[in-house]
Amino acid sequence: MKNIVILISGSGSNMAAIVRAAEQGRWAERLNARVAAVLSNRADAQGLVFAQEHGIPTAVLDHKAFPSREAFDAALMAEIDQQAPDLVVLAGFMRILTPGFVAHYAGRLINIHPSLLPAFPGLNTHQRALDAGCRFAGATVHQVTAELDHGQILAQAVVPILPGDTAATLSARVLSQEHQIYPRAVAAWISDFSQSVA
Ligand code: GRF
Repeated sequence: MKNIVILISGSGSNMAAIVRAAEQGRWAERLNARVAAVLSNRADAQGLVFAQEHGIPTAVLDHKAFPSREAFDAALMAEIDQQAPDLVVLAGFMRILTPGFVAHYAGRLINIHPSLLPAFPGLNTHQRALDAGCRFAGATVHQVTAELDHGQILAQAVVPILPGDTAATLSARVLSQEHQIYPRAVAAWISDFSQSVA
């Protein structure tokens, strides 16, 4: 069985979309894959409740309880590695990861970012797209490398920017597309992986 571990910090709506896709798409039977655990750096991340309701083990590692970024990442790696993960999925995980963490999961670590990368890496992507006068915005699923919001692009979705849009309305439009492309990108990654090791 291939194990997917998802890391969240907040609402976890992308994680929920992946869990629903795994259930509805019968990933266990079709892809021999499962969401093995959902981990959060925040105890109040709403997504934890959803995961528990869907029978997925959860754990919280509060980054504030660790003396350094390196110490937190070492503990996080130990927690993740208990699941023998084939794929680690960042889904609104609001921590910058150390180079050691990224190297440890090289080739099996992916993220979703709410812009059409390489445009607008970093924070406040929707306001920045509005301020720049963009006509289109979107989201990108990409491999995680040492450089923030870089790495090979695996999937993208494009949405129009409409007159009167605010960061909130644009964010909602992009997020609904994230929920489409992220589960598909995870499933595609898992099936490619199955073929390459078959
Ligand atoms: C999404 O916009 C994602 O692109 C970004 O953080 C947000 C997470 O939302 N990385 P959710 O926690 O999945 O609802």
